[in-house]
Amino acid sequence: MKSLNTQGARILATGSAVPELCVNNFKISEMVETSDDWIVTRTGIKERRVLTGINKSVVDLASLASIRALNKISMDPLEIDLIILATSSPNDLFGSASQVQAKIGANKAVAFDLTAACSGFVLGIVTGAQFIQNGSYKNILVIGADVLSKWTDWSDRSTCILFGDGAGAVIIQSCSIEKNGILGFQLNTDGEKSDQLSIPYRNKEKNQTISICKGEFDFIQMNGKEVYKFAVSKVPLSILTCLHSLCISPKDISWLLLHQANERILYAVAERLSIHSSKLISNLHKYGNTSAASIPLALDEALKNKRIKDNDLIVISGFGAGLTWGTVVIKWKC
Ligand code: COA
Repeated sequence: MKSLNTQGARILATGSAVPELCVNNFKISEMVETSDDWIVTRTGIKERRVLTGINKSVVDLASLASIRALNKISMDPLEIDLIILATSSPNDLFGSASQVQAKIGANKAVAFDLTAACSGFVLGIVTGAQFIQNGSYKNILVIGADVLSKWTDWSDRSTCILFGDGAGAVIIQSCSIEKNGILGFQLNTDGEKSDQLSIPYRNKEKNQTISICKGEFDFIQMNGKEVYKFAVSKVPLSILTCLHSLCISPKDISWLLLHQANERILYAVAERLSIHSSKLISNLHKYGNTSAASIPLALDEALKNKRIKDNDLIVISGFGAGLTWGTVVIKWKC
């Protein structure tokens, strides 16, 4: 999608946080009938982090990731104009971003949640970039954070092997149009397939006087095979459409950073784009699918490991519940 931008936007710093408790596949195989071999072969996941502690929530992980990003560039939290918290596991249905704002002391920032499951971080970056590129704000904190362990049925082997908890944050700052690093995006939604992956709210009882149903949220429900097919067919198309709009060829990209759902999905998408697997950024063997956190968590790690260099072209794609999927292309500026 083309727009008339007055400002450039670039990612200035990243940070991440994961819970201490590491649950490996052997531990999971004590809980459900599965094996390390089955999980690794089908998903590439070896272990995941799980948030424990009665008072701990997504806010703690999101805040820690944010503080780490701010500390990297010695930025005062008061300089943040806007906080976008991409999460599907808030600790308050009215939103958790304001709690993050208070916890990190970003008292001048507007803060809101963005719910788009595993595509949340891509949508967060695109949303944040709009506020910068149209000249409204200067510094924006975009966080992807989820604690899906709280919404996982730990007796369902078809889902509990996949998910983990974590948070990643980026600070986007305005810059001259020549230094713009957020080049373009392509976003999609298919609500007809929302039942393929969801945490549905189920009505239980009815108030007879005024016909109000009361209920509760269920655990994660997923049609694994359909979600797999959706990802490997739609994500390459989204990437190609986005690259085409920017006149960039897949062979010119430096890194392919996909939502870390399943190693087989990552390889299949790369293959369909004829992108060599050495260009894939992947850390899901350590964290599993951390939903909105997976992309910024992997980005932060790749930067820590000094894999990403100045002017590298990074294609980032998220996909998941909604169904939602989308791509943002970034030129890395050090
Ligand atoms: N351990 C051992 N066996 C398992 C198992 C587990 N954890 N989970 C399922 N099985 C069994 C099934 O019961 C089935 O047995 P059957 O043949 O006797 O009926 C068999 O393994 C195959 O199950 P199936 O569901 O067809 O496996 P699959 O190859 O599709 O792999 C997923 C399952 C979930 C790994 C895969 O579908 C997937 O990754 N989908 C995408 C999910 C995803 O990424 N979601 C998030 C997107 S954001």
